[in-house]
Amino acid sequence: MARHKAILLIGASGFLGTHLALHLRDTYKVYGTFHENFYPIPGITPIPVLSFEKDWIKRITYMVEPDVVIFAAGKGDPKEANNSSTAYDQVHTGGMATVATASEAFKAKFIYISNSYVFDGKKGNYHETDTPLPSTKLGKEKVGGENFLRGRSLNYVIIRSSPLIGRGNGARFSFFDRLRYHLDRDEKIELPKYDLHSFAPILGLLKMVGKLIESPIKNKVFHYGGLTRASHYDCGKMFAEKFGYNPNLVLPEKINLNPEHEELYYSDYSLNSTHSVKELKIKPLLLEETFDLLKENLIVLPR
Ligand SMILES: NC(=O)c1ccc[n+]([C@@H]2O[C@H](COP(=O)([O-])OP(=O)(O)OC[C@H]3O[C@@H](n4cnc5c(N)ncnc54)[C@H](OP(=O)(O)O)[C@@H]3O)[C@@H](O)[C@H]2O)c1
Repeated sequence: MARHKAILLIGASGFLGTHLALHLRDTYKVYGTFHENFYPIPGITPIPVLSFEKDWIKRITYMVEPDVVIFAAGKGDPKEANNSSTAYDQVHTGGMATVATASEAFKAKFIYISNSYVFDGKKGNYHETDTPLPSTKLGKEKVGGENFLRGRSLNYVIIRSSPLIGRGNGARFSFFDRLRYHLDRDEKIELPKYDLHSFAPILGLLKMVGKLIESPIKNKVFHYGGLTRASHYDCGKMFAEKFGYNPNLVLPEKINLNPEHEELYYSDYSLNSTHSVKELKIKPLLLEETFDLLKENLIVLPR
């Protein structure tokens, strides 16, 4: 009987990790790590990773013998990353490097989830061929992780994803959960207005990872994003209108700015996914279409 591929999913207890675990568990033997939040997912073997201590990571990889490692741990919000502890700082670079090095013994494919903060936000619509020039701490950590793989790994794929729209796992609110939570209660919610992104549904990223697991593609970077350029504030307003909430409850986050030069405060981190569309047959969606998809899937995550 053919052996199911073994997947070591680092960060299975997170928003993205939980979705990946649920998406992959029927096809593969999935081992998922958690750090502070133990979130049991039927069909997934849970593994604690309290730190990226070398011997512990080696022990885990020798137990799992992974065919594929998916690194989906760490932070997505640059503000959160700025205020984080050193343990968090380690994740995207040092932690990732420890896992990548340990899994080399099994010639595992290493899929690293990066994000659009590897760019400086001055241009937008970034292609895979554009040079990363991060201006945030989070972006610098992500670039550190990407550079390690480029220099050391013989079998890696980097996916730089735009912010993802989807339900959280109950343990931690996703952006979408936060919106719904406030609007359901007729509460105001303040959202960043000046960072623009190409928001995309989480489902497309799950499909992309699934394709990459089975494909011989290696040592490449792929971008994942939608077709609409919007801020979290724009996105919140559109969501409220689409789902019948009061859009006036969505307010721009207060920052000290000179209103005469408001345009100077904008950064554009949108990603161009043309390469992924061509090579991986990913369908990019407008924000409106993403919300339609969400409407169809307004169900509790399967447990
Ligand atoms: N969410 C998005 O829209 C998005 C978009 C693009 C890229 N990404 C990238 O995808 C990754 C995951 O994002 P997310 O939104 O799923 O984040 P999340 O919900 O905050 O989950 C983070 C995951 O990392 C684990 N973790 C955190 N610190 C750790 C440490 N010191 N040691 C071991 N594990 C640790 C967490 O474990 P515990 O919960 O058990 O502590 C959790 O499993 C991030 O690197 C982010 O940059 C996310």
